[in-house]
Amino acid sequence: MQYRRLGRAGLPLSALSFGAWATFGKSVDRSMARDLLALAWDRGVNFFDNAETYGNGVAESLMGDVLADLRFPRDSWCVSSKVYFGAQEHPKPTQRGLSRKHVIEACHQALARLRVDYLDLYFCHRPDPDTPVAETVAAMDLLVRQGKVLYWGTSEWPADAIVEAHRVAKENHLAAPTMEQPQYNLLHRERVEVEYAPLYAEYGMGTTIWSPLASGLLSGKYDDGVPADSRLAHPDYAWLRESVLGEHGERVAKVRRLRPIADELGCSTAQLAIAWCLANPQVSTVMLGASRREQLEHNLGALDVLPKLDEAVRRRIAQAVE
Ligand SMILES: NC(=O)c1ccc[n+]([C@@H]2O[C@H](COP(=O)([O-])OP(=O)(O)OC[C@H]3O[C@@H](n4cnc5c(N)ncnc54)[C@H](OP(=O)(O)O)[C@@H]3O)[C@@H](O)[C@H]2O)c1
Repeated sequence: MQYRRLGRAGLPLSALSFGAWATFGKSVDRSMARDLLALAWDRGVNFFDNAETYGNGVAESLMGDVLADLRFPRDSWCVSSKVYFGAQEHPKPTQRGLSRKHVIEACHQALARLRVDYLDLYFCHRPDPDTPVAETVAAMDLLVRQGKVLYWGTSEWPADAIVEAHRVAKENHLAAPTMEQPQYNLLHRERVEVEYAPLYAEYGMGTTIWSPLASGLLSGKYDDGVPADSRLAHPDYAWLRESVLGEHGERVAKVRRLRPIADELGCSTAQLAIAWCLANPQVSTVMLGASRREQLEHNLGALDVLPKLDEAVRRRIAQAVE
């Protein structure tokens, strides 16, 4: 495993980490969750990502139960939660958003579900137009001072809202956001590469990036249709289909064009796509998702592909998916 600092913070996160969205409590039952977390930890993964909304709290309870069972030393791994969407199917107004009330209560609930005394990373899952940024920053600062959260960050916030959070934090001597959690993959680059470009040097922000395979698309599994046991075949994720595959399947066509390059490098398109994310030095950790052991095992192999991605190869890859 390779370890990278979370932006300018001192925390060393494994370059490949592991998340629970759309899997834990759905396609992944307790026994599989145990296998996956054990495999990840064995291979040096030290960051497990979660959120209040994943399975309406079920994913966090399952992860907490398995981590307690596995008994890895608490100081050898990091766990996250995210607040915003709520942990109910239909949250009441106070059960969602980024008000001081919900940020604090959601933290306490995540601590209970994950069975930990503190969250290593805690994210605002989306911006909340109904709450002043200053209120959210102050709530996060309070949790940091109480030792319930070690690093707080944002997820899919526009760059100007992140800048505003830093301004408020600086002016009021409060803890500022350390990291952002954006989508980043070969088919979704703009925000990480262009919109956030000024944030890295100015504020030392790290990134924990999500959907490195665009929900599995970049593995090539959708090249010939939607397999019955895949994420996009699951009724809960029907809403994802068009955005992942493209209105006329044009995103599938791009993935097919990656295959000859992967063949040349002696790897799969999944490993190629993950290694491509790792090649961006602004990426602190690439969060993997997996519904089976073989997938995680295979995807962890992306680290061996990284040295093969010199500038010329990266240019060819980018051209193939243009
Ligand atoms: N902050 C946010 O808003 C946000 C949003 C989304 C995700 N996340 C985080 O990011 C993590 C990773 O995102 P993601 O799950 O979308 O990542 P991803 O790597 O794009 O997709 C993972 C899915 O692709 C399929 N897959 C993975 N490896 C494969 C392989 N080698 N061959 C064939 N299929 C393979 C599996 O689904 P199937 O087997 O079911 O097809 C797996 O669950 C999440 O768990 C979550 O923690 C955060």
